Amino acid sequence: MAEEMETAFELARPEIGPEEERLVLEVLRSGQLSLGPMLSRFEECFADWLGVEHVVATSSGTAALHLGVRAMGWGEGDSVVLSPFTFVASANALLYEGVRPRFADVDPVTLNLQPETAEGAIGPDTVGLMPIDIFGFPSDATGFEEVAGRRGLELLEDAAQAIGAIDADGSKVGSRGIPTGFAFYANKQITTGEGGVLVCPDEEMASRVRSERNQGRAPDMSRMDHTGIGFNYRMSDIAAAIGVAQMERIDELLTRRAEVAALYSDRLGGIEGLTLPQAGEGRARRSWFVYTVMVSDGVDRDAVIAGLNSSGIPSKAYLPSAHLFPQFEEFGYGPGDFPVAESASARSLALPFHAGLTEGDIDRIADALEDALDA
Ligand SMILES: Cc1ncc(COP(=O)(O)O)c(C=O)c1O
Repeated sequence: MAEEMETAFELARPEIGPEEERLVLEVLRSGQLSLGPMLSRFEECFADWLGVEHVVATSSGTAALHLGVRAMGWGEGDSVVLSPFTFVASANALLYEGVRPRFADVDPVTLNLQPETAEGAIGPDTVGLMPIDIFGFPSDATGFEEVAGRRGLELLEDAAQAIGAIDADGSKVGSRGIPTGFAFYANKQITTGEGGVLVCPDEEMASRVRSERNQGRAPDMSRMDHTGIGFNYRMSDIAAAIGVAQMERIDELLTRRAEVAALYSDRLGGIEGLTLPQAGEGRARRSWFVYTVMVSDGVDRDAVIAGLNSSGIPSKAYLPSAHLFPQFEEFGYGPGDFPVAESASARSLALPFHAGLTEGDIDRIADALEDALDA
């Protein structure tokens, strides 16, 4: 008799099905592996779903942000205000262009930078603000728009973790005319393996970004004319094929992730000393990228991770505050600068999270978490 298989938990897992396989095969058989029709098809279905016009797909979310920084015209001598509680790529995209990051501390509940705190960090060289929707929670876009308008600044949103999140005014994150980057690494809500998009407010920005992702070439590629510096930040048609299939069922994937998150919140709700992520605030709605919990002050988070690991449950300290990485030392940043972000970094852990988790899985993970917290 076959032994019952123990579920092997994964921290994250992409949902890849027959349609992804079919479209990838279609690209392979077409011979057009790059700059072919699948790339435009992905951009079009992404734009349709979001309700926008100008979407440029890139090789990664970082590439999208980098091209966004360039398209804003930000460079040497400029600074941009952003949250330190972010994946390091948000801030690195500024450094690539010699832009000084001005970090400011986050809200303890949403873990996002609030517009009024951002305003307090503006310096004489500040040209823009970068709202980041951490863990898929939408930052206060209308608040950022208000501060930016009043202070004559521009906005570039990092929504790498937030496809499907809803702003407090009911609009989809990325759909309101703020240049916005998304990312599709395999742990994201939808994936292209590696990839990203930059949503641009107008065709002028989109054509610049389209050219710069392709070595600065003219859009029709009729001549080998390189109109300026560019990069190879192209998304391949193989990646785009996965993306098209994912976009066909994005709503279903987002709903399923929200259901898994709700199972977690129900099951973990009674555990004392554990802070759970909120699904929304007012009309704002999180898009569930990860499910992270925070242990209380004084609890050894790393011991909890080790305890979970010994029960076969992977988890991860997530995420470290970016200002503590060495490349930001030259701007004078160090430990103690942003107590809320640093405390969140010390107390948060990401639990296994993907659309395939069942109620039974969540129960097992929750039992192991309780044991690890009691140990
Ligand atoms: C907040 C944030 N910004 C940017 C990125 C960069 O995206 P990518 O890994 O696709 O380059 C990520 C990736 O996880 C992210 O979480």
